[in-house]
Amino acid sequence: MCGIVGFTGITPAVPILLDGLERLEYRGYDSAGVAVVSPREGLQIQKCKGRLQVLRDKLDSQPPLTGTAGIGHTRWATHGEPNDVNSHPHVSQNGRVAIVHNGIIENYVEIKQFLLHKGVTFRSDTDSEVVAQLLEYCFNDHTDPLDAVYAVLERLEGAYALGILCADRPDMLIAARKDAPLLLGYGDGESFIASDATAIIAHTRDVAYMADGEVAVLTRAGIQVFDEYRRPVEKERHFIEWDVSAAEKGGYAHFMFKEIMEQPEALRRTISPRLREGQVAFDELAMTAEDVRRFRRIFIVACGSSYHVGMVGKYNLEKLMRTPVEVALASEFRYSAPLVGADDLVIVISQSGETLDTMAALREAKSLGARVLSIVNVVGSSIARESDDVLYTWAGPEIAVATTKAYSTQLALLTMLGLWMARCLGRVDSAEYAAIVSELEALPDKLAKVIASTDIYQYLASLYFNQQCIFYIGRNLDYALGLEGSLKLKEISYIHSESYAAGELKHGTISLIEPGSLVMSLATYAPLLDKAVSNIAEVRSRGADVVVLTTEEHAERMGSIASHVLTVPGTHPVLQPNLGVVPLQLFAYYVALHRGCDIDKPKNLAKSVTVE
Ligand code: F6R
Repeated sequence: MCGIVGFTGITPAVPILLDGLERLEYRGYDSAGVAVVSPREGLQIQKCKGRLQVLRDKLDSQPPLTGTAGIGHTRWATHGEPNDVNSHPHVSQNGRVAIVHNGIIENYVEIKQFLLHKGVTFRSDTDSEVVAQLLEYCFNDHTDPLDAVYAVLERLEGAYALGILCADRPDMLIAARKDAPLLLGYGDGESFIASDATAIIAHTRDVAYMADGEVAVLTRAGIQVFDEYRRPVEKERHFIEWDVSAAEKGGYAHFMFKEIMEQPEALRRTISPRLREGQVAFDELAMTAEDVRRFRRIFIVACGSSYHVGMVGKYNLEKLMRTPVEVALASEFRYSAPLVGADDLVIVISQSGETLDTMAALREAKSLGARVLSIVNVVGSSIARESDDVLYTWAGPEIAVATTKAYSTQLALLTMLGLWMARCLGRVDSAEYAAIVSELEALPDKLAKVIASTDIYQYLASLYFNQQCIFYIGRNLDYALGLEGSLKLKEISYIHSESYAAGELKHGTISLIEPGSLVMSLATYAPLLDKAVSNIAEVRSRGADVVVLTTEEHAERMGSIASHVLTVPGTHPVLQPNLGVVPLQLFAYYVALHRGCDIDKPKNLAKSVTVE
């Protein structure tokens, strides 16, 4: 939520900030703004409600803002409606400082009251403005900006990634972080801050991830970092493996479509390095077979689509390992006094590695003594850093708000982990092990076959884009798959959608089925195909149109009872959802396209959810 970028160097800051904000816009897009500082003009700000283009147009219609140090922000509103005044950057009363903030200042009311009593006038309804006002107030006692920043941070409660400019230090930018992502970029005679690497990748691939409590002082000469006690910190630098083209649309109409099409390659990157001579090999794991034998239970904790990966994982891991697996929504787990202990493994799944609820669940699990393994896409993210073990998905940057390639790679990796643990426990026989490994090797090519033609999805979308509600039904792995298909549809097309375990339908929901209702029946799980056939008959006899998703092998049988059939190649059952999800992504995409929705930036959403 919210994207931050900051720059100090020798070239004008505004073009670099706008370019960075464009790449961060997926993190929040209800308003945007920039502030720069120059020796002659001091602080200059432009900000407004709306997409980044509105800000660009405003900036184009006025004399250029001069300054070679600046901060930029794209907002996802929490406190205060999206309007010009509530947009960032926020400037202090007397114009001494400007700040951009991502996160929530939980004690902002108390700080605001304090400052109001001191005669400070506030302009916005945001929690963030208190940071700017308090900083200026602290300049009464501190002449050194860093002293003042530390005095402010001491009083803040909540989460923050901050970029700070001071009117009388036109060469300098200060950054601070607690529970919200922020990274530092090291350039040649220039320095950067950003919420994620996509914002600065065009300028530098040499980065360091700020840790909680750290403060950084950036000038064109370099970056100094201090810990919460103001001791200098030597940061570990990382080289970003992907380049700027990975974060661009590359001729596709939408990032979502591009990312759907990238799935075979993303899967290859996830799977291939971890298969050696017919075995799953996780060189990156500190966890040993001995540890695996010690686990009594496994918990999978995540939010949204990552949680849906966990739902598939529960079926697969229990089947392969015969160890009980519980899947929990991170936002519920942390407040449920979870019965987790030292003999349990907690698997945390997160594309961004920054989701606040997931992070809090991870900390809860660790405090209870559990071992935490995370499956994460963003290298160096908070969740990755705080886990005992990390498996990176290597999906590359995912820009569309609706996840596709991250989901696919998480799913493949979780199944591989289950297979590896099952082997540690001696609970999978060699024939089945070999069959799954061989299907893992074939998976990227099979997926490429699924996306080779999109005509059928476009056709179905043209028939059904005006539906009021679409139901997804399935059993076992198909039920877990339906949860993701339904979420994909509703988040980008705004059609109401429900996903049900097919056997549950007649316990209530079937009353909603009427002539013309659309039911997506997921029937890829071979052992329960007969049951799927019965459920299809139940809704067909009540007048529903039924689109069946099944494997090529069963297309004919399903074709005789369905309105339309979608097929995917067959594979081992534990990997079938990896192929089944793609038609659901494409159907959702084309429905949203027909409805004229803003596919990459659906309303009310943001890519990285760093607030509760
Ligand atoms: C839906 C989607 C979200 C995320 C959820 C968790 O398409 O992307 O539901 O899956 O917000 O995000 P991460 O995986 O970054 O923790």
